[in-house]
Amino acid sequence: MAHLDVSEPEPPCASDGVWLSCIACGERFAPFEEVRYTCDCGGLLEVRYADLPTWDAFEGRGVWRYADALPFDIGVSLPEGATPLHDVPRLEREVGVDRLRVKHEGMNPTGSFKDRGMTVGVRVAQEVGVDRLACASTGNTSAALAAYGARAGLETLVLLPQGKVAAGKVAQAACHGARILEVDGNFDTCLDIVQALAARGEVYLLNSLNPFRLEGQKTIGLEILEQFRAEEGTYPDRIVLPVGNAGNTAALYKCFRELVAAGALDDDELPALTGVQAEGAAPVVEAIEDGLEETRRWEDVETKATAIRIGNPVNAPKALPGIRETGGTAVAVTDEAIRSTQRALAEEGVGVEPASAASVAGLRKLRERGVVSADERVVCLTTGHLLKDPDAAVEAGTEPEPVPGTTEGVLERL
Ligand code: F0G
Repeated sequence: MAHLDVSEPEPPCASDGVWLSCIACGERFAPFEEVRYTCDCGGLLEVRYADLPTWDAFEGRGVWRYADALPFDIGVSLPEGATPLHDVPRLEREVGVDRLRVKHEGMNPTGSFKDRGMTVGVRVAQEVGVDRLACASTGNTSAALAAYGARAGLETLVLLPQGKVAAGKVAQAACHGARILEVDGNFDTCLDIVQALAARGEVYLLNSLNPFRLEGQKTIGLEILEQFRAEEGTYPDRIVLPVGNAGNTAALYKCFRELVAAGALDDDELPALTGVQAEGAAPVVEAIEDGLEETRRWEDVETKATAIRIGNPVNAPKALPGIRETGGTAVAVTDEAIRSTQRALAEEGVGVEPASAASVAGLRKLRERGVVSADERVVCLTTGHLLKDPDAAVEAGTEPEPVPGTTEGVLERL
Protein backbone atom coordinates (compact mmCIF):
# COMPACT_ATOMS: atom_id res chain seq x y z
CA MET A 1 0.00 0.00 0.00
CA ALA A 2 1.14 3.53 -0.73
CA HIS A 3 2.37 5.79 2.01
CA LEU A 4 1.85 9.44 1.32
CA ASP A 5 2.82 12.59 3.11
CA VAL A 6 -0.55 13.79 4.32
CA SER A 7 0.70 15.94 7.14
CA GLU A 8 -1.33 19.03 8.03
CA PRO A 9 -0.65 21.99 5.76
CA GLU A 10 1.90 24.42 7.14
CA PRO A 11 0.67 27.89 8.06
CA PRO A 12 1.01 30.24 5.10
CA CYS A 13 3.69 32.90 4.96
CA ALA A 14 1.78 34.79 2.30
CA SER A 15 -1.69 36.22 1.86
CA ASP A 16 -4.46 34.19 0.20
CA GLY A 17 -3.22 30.95 1.70
CA VAL A 18 -0.79 30.15 -1.14
CA TRP A 19 2.96 29.80 -0.80
CA LEU A 20 5.97 28.00 -2.25
CA SER A 21 7.73 25.28 -0.31
CA CYS A 22 11.10 23.62 -1.06
CA ILE A 23 10.74 19.85 -1.40
CA ALA A 24 14.33 19.36 -0.18
CA CYS A 25 14.73 21.66 2.87
CA GLY A 26 11.17 22.87 3.55
CA GLU A 27 12.03 26.58 3.21
CA ARG A 28 8.96 28.65 2.37
CA PHE A 29 8.59 31.64 0.05
CA ALA A 30 5.84 34.13 -0.77
CA PRO A 31 4.54 33.18 -4.21
CA PHE A 32 4.35 36.38 -6.25
CA GLU A 33 6.55 38.99 -4.60
CA GLU A 34 9.74 37.87 -6.30
CA VAL A 35 10.49 35.69 -9.29
CA ARG A 36 11.89 32.40 -8.05
CA TYR A 37 11.99 28.92 -9.59
CA THR A 38 14.10 26.93 -7.12
CA CYS A 39 15.19 27.16 -3.49
CA ASP A 40 18.55 28.64 -2.44
CA CYS A 41 19.55 25.09 -1.52
CA GLY A 42 18.89 24.05 -5.14
CA GLY A 43 15.74 22.08 -4.26
CA LEU A 44 12.60 22.15 -6.39
CA LEU A 45 9.67 24.28 -5.24
CA GLU A 46 6.10 23.16 -4.83
CA VAL A 47 2.95 25.30 -4.52
CA ARG A 48 1.18 24.80 -1.18
CA TYR A 49 -2.27 25.87 0.00
CA ALA A 50 -3.71 26.50 3.44
CA ASP A 51 -7.00 24.92 2.36
CA LEU A 52 -7.37 21.95 0.06
CA PRO A 53 -10.74 21.37 -1.63
CA THR A 54 -12.79 18.17 -1.81
CA TRP A 55 -14.89 17.04 -4.78
CA ASP A 56 -17.97 19.14 -4.06
CA ALA A 57 -15.95 22.37 -4.39
CA PHE A 58 -15.55 21.90 -8.14
CA GLU A 59 -17.92 23.45 -10.68
CA GLY A 60 -17.79 24.38 -14.34
CA ARG A 61 -15.77 22.70 -17.06
CA GLY A 62 -12.11 22.26 -17.93
CA VAL A 63 -9.02 23.35 -16.00
CA TRP A 64 -10.79 26.19 -14.18
CA ARG A 65 -13.44 23.84 -12.84
CA TYR A 66 -10.68 23.11 -10.32
CA ALA A 67 -10.01 26.75 -9.41
CA ASP A 68 -10.27 25.91 -5.70
CA ALA A 69 -7.20 23.71 -6.10
CA LEU A 70 -5.32 26.43 -8.05
CA PRO A 71 -3.75 29.78 -7.10
CA PHE A 72 -6.28 31.85 -9.10
CA ASP A 73 -9.98 31.79 -9.96
CA ILE A 74 -9.31 32.09 -13.68
CA GLY A 75 -6.23 32.27 -15.91
CA VAL A 76 -5.38 33.23 -19.46
CA SER A 77 -7.77 30.70 -20.97
CA LEU A 78 -8.48 29.49 -24.52
CA PRO A 79 -10.15 27.37 -22.83
CA GLU A 80 -8.37 24.11 -21.97
CA GLY A 81 -9.08 20.75 -20.34
CA ALA A 82 -12.32 18.73 -20.43
CA THR A 83 -10.62 16.29 -22.81
CA PRO A 84 -12.23 12.98 -23.81
CA LEU A 85 -11.70 9.68 -22.03
CA HIS A 86 -11.97 7.30 -24.98
CA ASP A 87 -12.98 3.66 -25.03
CA VAL A 88 -10.63 1.57 -27.14
CA PRO A 89 -12.33 -1.85 -27.15
CA ARG A 90 -10.04 -3.57 -29.65
CA LEU A 91 -6.87 -2.44 -27.88
CA GLU A 92 -8.42 -3.30 -24.52
CA ARG A 93 -9.00 -6.89 -25.72
CA GLU A 94 -5.64 -7.15 -27.38
CA VAL A 95 -3.66 -5.81 -24.40
CA GLY A 96 -5.79 -7.97 -22.11
CA VAL A 97 -6.87 -5.78 -19.22
CA ASP A 98 -10.27 -5.51 -17.57
CA ARG A 99 -10.73 -1.89 -18.67
CA LEU A 100 -8.65 0.41 -20.84
CA ARG A 101 -9.53 4.06 -21.34
CA VAL A 102 -7.46 6.67 -23.16
CA LYS A 103 -7.36 10.23 -21.83
CA HIS A 104 -6.65 12.20 -24.99
CA GLU A 105 -4.85 15.37 -24.02
CA GLY A 106 -4.17 16.07 -27.69
CA MET A 107 -7.67 17.57 -27.70
CA ASN A 108 -6.53 20.71 -25.88
CA PRO A 109 -6.47 24.08 -27.72
CA THR A 110 -2.90 23.79 -29.04
CA GLY A 111 -3.06 20.00 -29.24
CA SER A 112 -1.23 18.95 -26.08
CA PHE A 113 -1.54 18.77 -22.29
CA LYS A 114 0.87 21.70 -21.98
CA ASP A 115 -2.09 24.10 -22.30
CA ARG A 116 -3.25 23.12 -18.82
CA GLY A 117 0.00 24.30 -17.30
CA MET A 118 0.27 27.35 -19.50
CA THR A 119 -3.16 28.80 -18.60
CA VAL A 120 -1.92 28.96 -15.00
CA GLY A 121 1.72 29.82 -15.74
CA VAL A 122 0.95 32.80 -17.95
CA ARG A 123 -1.53 34.08 -15.36
CA VAL A 124 1.28 33.98 -12.78
CA ALA A 125 3.55 35.83 -15.23
CA GLN A 126 0.94 38.61 -15.33
CA GLU A 127 0.79 38.62 -11.54
CA VAL A 128 4.55 39.00 -11.07
CA GLY A 129 4.63 41.59 -13.86
CA VAL A 130 7.12 40.24 -16.38
CA ASP A 131 7.06 41.00 -20.08
CA ARG A 132 9.19 38.35 -21.79
CA LEU A 133 8.26 34.69 -21.42
CA ALA A 134 10.58 31.87 -22.43
CA CYS A 135 10.96 28.11 -22.50
CA ALA A 136 13.18 25.34 -23.78
CA SER A 137 11.11 22.79 -25.59
CA THR A 138 10.90 19.58 -27.55
CA GLY A 139 7.99 21.36 -29.25
CA ASN A 140 4.70 21.21 -27.41
CA THR A 141 5.62 23.57 -24.59
CA SER A 142 6.79 26.10 -27.19
CA ALA A 143 3.48 25.85 -29.08
CA ALA A 144 1.50 26.35 -25.87
CA LEU A 145 3.70 29.17 -24.62
CA ALA A 146 3.48 30.95 -27.98
CA ALA A 147 -0.33 30.73 -28.01
CA TYR A 148 -0.96 31.69 -24.38
CA GLY A 149 1.71 34.40 -24.47
CA ALA A 150 0.07 35.81 -27.61
CA ARG A 151 -3.32 35.69 -25.90
CA ALA A 152 -1.90 37.67 -22.97
CA GLY A 153 -0.13 40.13 -25.26
CA LEU A 154 3.32 39.17 -23.98
CA GLU A 155 6.58 38.59 -25.85
CA THR A 156 7.61 34.92 -26.15
CA LEU A 157 11.00 33.34 -26.78
CA VAL A 158 11.47 29.61 -27.38
CA LEU A 159 14.68 27.60 -27.55
CA LEU A 160 14.38 24.43 -29.63
CA PRO A 161 16.89 21.65 -30.33
CA GLN A 162 17.81 22.22 -33.98
CA GLY A 163 16.30 19.68 -36.38
CA LYS A 164 14.67 17.66 -33.59
CA VAL A 165 11.25 19.27 -33.25
CA ALA A 166 8.23 17.96 -35.16
CA ALA A 167 6.97 20.22 -37.96
CA GLY A 168 3.51 20.92 -36.52
CA LYS A 169 4.96 22.27 -33.28
CA VAL A 170 7.46 24.62 -34.94
CA ALA A 171 4.65 25.85 -37.20
CA GLN A 172 2.48 26.64 -34.18
CA ALA A 173 5.22 28.50 -32.31
CA ALA A 174 6.01 30.48 -35.46
CA CYS A 175 2.44 31.39 -36.32
CA HIS A 176 1.53 32.43 -32.78
CA GLY A 177 4.44 34.83 -33.06
CA ALA A 178 7.16 33.41 -30.80
CA ARG A 179 10.75 34.31 -31.45
CA ILE A 180 12.32 30.90 -32.20
CA LEU A 181 15.98 30.16 -31.48
CA GLU A 182 17.19 26.86 -32.93
CA VAL A 183 19.96 25.70 -30.63
CA ASP A 184 22.85 23.50 -31.69
CA GLY A 185 22.26 20.95 -28.95
CA ASN A 186 19.54 18.77 -27.46
CA PHE A 187 16.62 19.74 -25.21
CA ASP A 188 18.73 19.51 -22.06
CA THR A 189 21.20 22.06 -23.50
CA CYS A 190 18.28 24.36 -24.35
CA LEU A 191 16.97 24.09 -20.79
CA ASP A 192 20.41 24.82 -19.31
CA ILE A 193 20.59 28.01 -21.41
CA VAL A 194 17.06 29.23 -20.71
CA GLN A 195 17.58 28.64 -16.99
CA ALA A 196 20.72 30.77 -17.16
CA LEU A 197 18.78 33.51 -18.98
CA ALA A 198 16.03 33.36 -16.33
CA ALA A 199 18.61 33.56 -13.52
CA ARG A 200 19.89 36.79 -15.10
CA GLY A 201 16.38 38.22 -15.20
CA GLU A 202 16.27 38.25 -19.03
CA VAL A 203 13.17 36.09 -19.26
CA TYR A 204 10.38 34.55 -17.17
CA LEU A 205 10.83 30.78 -17.30
CA LEU A 206 7.78 28.73 -18.22
CA ASN A 207 9.23 25.25 -18.30
CA SER A 208 7.83 22.74 -15.81
CA LEU A 209 10.61 23.73 -13.41
CA ASN A 210 8.22 26.60 -12.76
CA PRO A 211 6.03 25.07 -10.05
CA PHE A 212 2.89 26.89 -11.22
CA ARG A 213 2.91 25.00 -14.54
CA LEU A 214 2.44 21.75 -12.63
CA GLU A 215 -0.57 23.19 -10.78
CA GLY A 216 -2.45 23.40 -14.06
CA GLN A 217 -1.29 19.96 -15.13
CA LYS A 218 -2.50 18.32 -11.96
CA THR A 219 -6.04 18.94 -13.23
CA ILE A 220 -5.47 15.99 -15.61
CA GLY A 221 -5.53 13.76 -12.53
CA LEU A 222 -8.64 15.42 -11.12
CA GLU A 223 -10.43 15.04 -14.45
CA ILE A 224 -9.42 11.41 -14.91
CA LEU A 225 -10.64 10.47 -11.44
CA GLU A 226 -13.96 12.31 -11.85
CA GLN A 227 -14.63 10.97 -15.36
CA PHE A 228 -13.64 7.42 -14.54
CA ARG A 229 -15.71 7.38 -11.37
CA ALA A 230 -18.75 8.77 -13.20
CA GLU A 231 -18.52 6.26 -16.05
CA GLU A 232 -17.03 3.17 -14.39
CA GLY A 233 -18.26 3.62 -10.82
CA THR A 234 -14.76 3.40 -9.37
CA TYR A 235 -11.24 4.85 -9.73
CA PRO A 236 -8.64 3.41 -12.12
CA ASP A 237 -6.04 1.03 -10.66
CA ARG A 238 -3.29 2.49 -12.80
CA ILE A 239 -2.47 5.59 -14.85
CA VAL A 240 0.18 5.13 -17.55
CA LEU A 241 1.88 8.15 -19.08
CA PRO A 242 4.84 9.08 -21.27
CA VAL A 243 7.74 10.64 -19.37
CA GLY A 244 10.19 13.27 -20.60
CA ASN A 245 11.07 15.93 -18.05
CA ALA A 246 8.82 14.07 -15.58
CA GLY A 247 6.73 17.17 -14.89
CA ASN A 248 3.43 15.51 -15.64
CA THR A 249 4.24 12.52 -13.41
CA ALA A 250 5.07 14.96 -10.62
CA ALA A 251 1.82 16.86 -11.24
CA LEU A 252 -0.33 13.72 -11.02
CA TYR A 253 1.38 12.65 -7.81
CA LYS A 254 0.74 16.07 -6.30
CA CYS A 255 -2.90 15.82 -7.34
CA PHE A 256 -3.23 12.50 -5.49
CA ARG A 257 -1.40 13.76 -2.38
CA GLU A 258 -3.65 16.79 -2.13
CA LEU A 259 -6.80 14.69 -2.51
CA VAL A 260 -5.62 12.34 0.22
CA ALA A 261 -4.75 15.29 2.48
CA ALA A 262 -8.21 16.77 1.88
CA GLY A 263 -9.86 13.45 2.70
CA ALA A 264 -11.24 13.18 -0.84
CA LEU A 265 -9.33 9.98 -1.72
CA ASP A 266 -8.24 6.99 0.36
CA ASP A 267 -4.67 5.69 0.36
CA ASP A 268 -5.86 2.38 -1.12
CA GLU A 269 -7.66 4.15 -4.01
CA LEU A 270 -4.49 5.66 -5.48
CA PRO A 271 -3.80 4.75 -9.10
CA ALA A 272 -0.30 3.30 -9.60
CA LEU A 273 1.68 5.91 -11.53
CA THR A 274 3.41 4.16 -14.39
CA GLY A 275 5.93 6.03 -16.55
CA VAL A 276 6.98 5.09 -20.06
CA GLN A 277 10.08 6.31 -21.87
CA ALA A 278 11.69 5.54 -25.22
CA GLU A 279 14.63 3.13 -24.97
CA GLY A 280 16.98 5.79 -26.33
CA ALA A 281 16.05 8.32 -23.62
CA ALA A 282 15.20 6.45 -20.43
CA PRO A 283 16.93 7.93 -17.36
CA VAL A 284 13.77 7.63 -15.24
CA VAL A 285 13.37 3.94 -16.11
CA GLU A 286 17.01 3.43 -15.21
CA ALA A 287 16.53 5.16 -11.84
CA ILE A 288 13.46 3.06 -11.01
CA GLU A 289 15.03 -0.22 -12.13
CA ASP A 290 18.32 0.45 -10.33
CA GLY A 291 16.72 1.97 -7.22
CA LEU A 292 18.58 5.28 -7.66
CA GLU A 293 17.69 8.32 -5.55
CA GLU A 294 18.20 10.60 -8.55
CA THR A 295 18.34 10.15 -12.29
CA ARG A 296 21.70 9.97 -14.06
CA ARG A 297 22.01 12.51 -16.91
CA TRP A 298 22.10 10.83 -20.32
CA GLU A 299 24.24 12.97 -22.65
CA ASP A 300 23.25 11.14 -25.84
CA VAL A 301 19.55 10.61 -26.32
CA GLU A 302 17.74 9.45 -29.45
CA THR A 303 14.17 8.50 -30.31
CA LYS A 304 11.65 9.19 -33.04
CA ALA A 305 9.29 10.24 -30.23
CA THR A 306 11.03 13.62 -30.21
CA ALA A 307 8.70 15.07 -27.53
CA ILE A 308 10.35 12.83 -24.94
CA ARG A 309 13.91 12.97 -26.28
CA ILE A 310 15.22 14.14 -22.90
CA GLY A 311 18.26 12.95 -20.93
CA ASN A 312 18.09 15.06 -17.78
CA PRO A 313 14.54 15.09 -16.38
CA VAL A 314 14.55 18.07 -14.03
CA ASN A 315 11.39 17.03 -12.19
CA ALA A 316 12.71 13.58 -11.28
CA PRO A 317 13.05 14.48 -7.55
CA LYS A 318 9.27 15.06 -7.52
CA ALA A 319 8.34 12.23 -9.87
CA LEU A 320 10.41 9.28 -8.59
CA PRO A 321 8.70 9.27 -5.16
CA GLY A 322 5.36 9.47 -6.96
CA ILE A 323 6.05 6.35 -8.99
CA ARG A 324 7.41 4.49 -5.96
CA GLU A 325 4.84 5.55 -3.37
CA THR A 326 1.82 4.79 -5.53
CA GLY A 327 3.14 1.29 -6.25
CA GLY A 328 3.81 2.15 -9.89
CA THR A 329 6.77 1.42 -12.13
CA ALA A 330 8.58 2.64 -15.24
CA VAL A 331 9.33 0.89 -18.50
CA ALA A 332 11.15 1.66 -21.75
CA VAL A 333 9.80 0.83 -25.22
CA THR A 334 11.35 0.72 -28.69
CA ASP A 335 10.59 3.24 -31.41
CA GLU A 336 9.11 0.37 -33.43
CA ALA A 337 6.68 -0.46 -30.61
CA ILE A 338 5.75 3.22 -30.38
CA ARG A 339 5.07 3.39 -34.10
CA SER A 340 2.91 0.27 -34.26
CA THR A 341 0.94 1.42 -31.21
CA GLN A 342 0.43 4.86 -32.72
CA ARG A 343 -1.11 3.06 -35.69
CA ALA A 344 -3.23 0.80 -33.45
CA LEU A 345 -4.65 3.82 -31.62
CA ALA A 346 -5.30 5.60 -34.92
CA GLU A 347 -7.18 2.53 -36.15
CA GLU A 348 -9.59 3.07 -33.25
CA GLY A 349 -9.99 6.69 -34.33
CA VAL A 350 -7.66 8.14 -31.71
CA GLY A 351 -4.95 10.16 -33.42
CA VAL A 352 -1.92 10.76 -31.22
CA GLU A 353 1.71 11.75 -31.71
CA PRO A 354 4.50 9.16 -31.17
CA ALA A 355 5.40 10.13 -27.56
CA SER A 356 1.75 9.70 -26.62
CA ALA A 357 1.56 6.21 -28.08
CA ALA A 358 4.45 5.27 -25.78
CA SER A 359 1.98 5.06 -22.89
CA VAL A 360 -0.06 2.29 -24.51
CA ALA A 361 3.07 0.59 -25.86
CA GLY A 362 4.43 0.56 -22.28
CA LEU A 363 1.20 -0.89 -20.91
CA ARG A 364 1.32 -3.65 -23.54
CA LYS A 365 4.89 -4.53 -22.53
CA LEU A 366 4.09 -4.54 -18.79
CA ARG A 367 1.05 -6.72 -19.42
CA GLU A 368 3.18 -9.19 -21.43
CA ARG A 369 5.68 -9.29 -18.58
CA GLY A 370 2.90 -9.92 -16.07
CA VAL A 371 3.67 -6.70 -14.16
CA VAL A 372 0.16 -5.49 -15.02
CA SER A 373 -2.51 -8.09 -14.33
CA ALA A 374 -5.59 -8.97 -16.40
CA ASP A 375 -8.04 -7.65 -13.82
CA GLU A 376 -6.67 -4.08 -13.83
CA ARG A 377 -8.60 -0.97 -14.87
CA VAL A 378 -6.14 1.28 -16.63
CA VAL A 379 -6.08 4.82 -18.02
CA CYS A 380 -3.39 5.63 -20.58
CA LEU A 381 -2.58 9.26 -21.14
CA THR A 382 -2.04 10.39 -24.72
CA THR A 383 -0.39 13.76 -24.42
CA GLY A 384 -0.33 15.21 -27.95
CA HIS A 385 -2.34 15.20 -31.18
CA LEU A 386 -1.49 13.17 -34.30
CA LEU A 387 -1.03 16.32 -36.43
CA LYS A 388 1.78 17.57 -34.19
CA ASP A 389 4.18 15.30 -36.08
CA PRO A 390 2.90 14.87 -39.65
CA ASP A 391 6.10 13.14 -40.80
CA ALA A 392 5.76 10.42 -38.15
CA ALA A 393 2.07 10.02 -39.03
CA VAL A 394 2.86 9.52 -42.72
CA GLU A 395 5.54 6.98 -41.80
CA ALA A 396 3.17 5.01 -39.55
CA GLY A 397 0.26 5.15 -42.01
CA THR A 398 -0.88 3.62 -45.27
CA GLU A 399 0.94 4.45 -48.52
CA PRO A 400 -0.93 6.77 -50.90
CA GLU A 401 -1.40 5.03 -54.29
CA PRO A 402 -1.12 7.00 -57.55
CA VAL A 403 -4.02 6.31 -59.96
CA PRO A 404 -5.11 7.66 -63.34
CA GLY A 405 -7.71 10.45 -63.39
CA THR A 406 -10.51 8.20 -64.68
CA THR A 407 -13.23 6.14 -62.98
CA GLU A 408 -12.11 3.04 -64.94
CA GLY A 409 -8.54 3.55 -63.81
CA VAL A 410 -9.61 3.88 -60.17
CA LEU A 411 -11.94 0.86 -60.42
CA GLU A 412 -9.16 -1.19 -61.90
CA ARG A 413 -6.88 -0.27 -59.03
CA LEU A 414 -9.57 -1.19 -56.47
N1 F0G B 1 4.24 13.78 -24.21
C1 F0G B 1 4.37 14.86 -24.99
C2 F0G B 1 3.57 14.91 -26.26
C3 F0G B 1 5.24 15.90 -24.62
O1 F0G B 1 5.35 16.96 -25.39
C4 F0G B 1 5.99 15.79 -23.43
C5 F0G B 1 6.91 16.82 -23.01
C6 F0G B 1 5.81 14.63 -22.66
C7 F0G B 1 4.92 13.66 -23.08
C8 F0G B 1 6.54 14.41 -21.39
O2 F0G B 1 6.02 15.16 -20.36
O3 F0G B 1 8.07 16.34 -19.65
O4 F0G B 1 6.04 16.28 -18.21
O5 F0G B 1 7.41 14.23 -18.55
N2 F0G B 1 7.24 17.82 -23.73
C9 F0G B 1 8.05 18.94 -23.29
C10 F0G B 1 8.03 20.03 -24.33
C11 F0G B 1 9.38 18.59 -22.79
O6 F0G B 1 8.97 20.81 -24.41
O7 F0G B 1 7.05 20.13 -25.05
P1 F0G B 1 6.93 15.52 -19.09
